[in-house]
Amino acid sequence: MKVTSDMKVLVTGANGGIGQAIARALHNAGAQLILSGRRPEALVALAESVRARVVVADLERREDVARCLAEAGPIDVLVANAALPSSGALLDFSEDQIDRALDVNLRAPIVMARHAAQGMVERGKGQIVFISSISGKVAAMGTALYSATKFGLRGLSLGLREDLRASGIGVTTIFPGFIRDAGMFADSGVALPFAVGTRSPEQVGQAVLRAIEKNPAEITVAAFSQSLGALLAGISHSTVTALTRKLGGEKIAKQIAAAQAHKR
Ligand SMILES: NC(=O)c1ccc[n+]([C@@H]2O[C@H](COP(=O)([O-])OP(=O)(O)OC[C@H]3O[C@@H](n4cnc5c(N)ncnc54)[C@H](OP(=O)(O)O)[C@@H]3O)[C@@H](O)[C@H]2O)c1
Repeated sequence: MKVTSDMKVLVTGANGGIGQAIARALHNAGAQLILSGRRPEALVALAESVRARVVVADLERREDVARCLAEAGPIDVLVANAALPSSGALLDFSEDQIDRALDVNLRAPIVMARHAAQGMVERGKGQIVFISSISGKVAAMGTALYSATKFGLRGLSLGLREDLRASGIGVTTIFPGFIRDAGMFADSGVALPFAVGTRSPEQVGQAVLRAIEKNPAEITVAAFSQSLGALLAGISHSTVTALTRKLGGEKIAKQIAAAQAHKR
């Protein structure tokens, strides 16, 4: 689908590091934006700069999930981007924290996709874009809960893509690796070994444009080592986790979990 000036796109988690880059990429390509987030004050400046409408919604609240879509009105593209980092050992999470991760990272995208797809099918066009993570292909120490939600998005996306194939509605999942400069990993302040590599939020923004224009099933936006790891994990996941441990992955996982613990 070509990005046009009458295309309406809803982006969740729009005030986050990657959400802002997605919003800018879509605005520069000419789309009309509806930006969603929990905190209106954090969305105002961005919304002004990309001439967007704002819908405030806390996706942990079930009533807000449906209201977000209702207030957005008919949309051509849904970018389900909002998420919590949910990092750390599962044994360190309370049941409430587990529910929050499942609600924001998995339930909200499922319900939003279900309702958005209804309108898209009726209008005969549309694209649904899920922002997963390389942790949606490789689970490592400290990613059990996050990976449960991000692997879940992959299953949802691949199945939904088949459900909607005949109606011409596209479904794509984007798998970012470590993203520098802004967003939940950059905010953690954790330094990676040089060989690991990162990608920029702008590259995720460009991937969203590619998803809308070309409708691939999956796009990975990750440094070579992580892309290769994801590929190998599809063949032998235990080999990849053993390699990650050897390269010091446990120490980095603990540092990230400690830095993100306040977001559980
Ligand atoms: N950064 C990375 O390295 C990386 C790597 C792989 C995948 N990803 C994925 O990329 C996406 C964007 O992440 P990011 O790095 O931009 O993270 P971020 O800066 O922490 O942004 C996350 C966004 O989700 C929103 N959010 C969290 N809980 C919410 C709730 N209950 N209701 C509504 N919105 C909520 C946040 O709103 P508040 O500002 O109000 O909290 C924020 O706008 C996520 O799906 C993430 O899993 C990121």
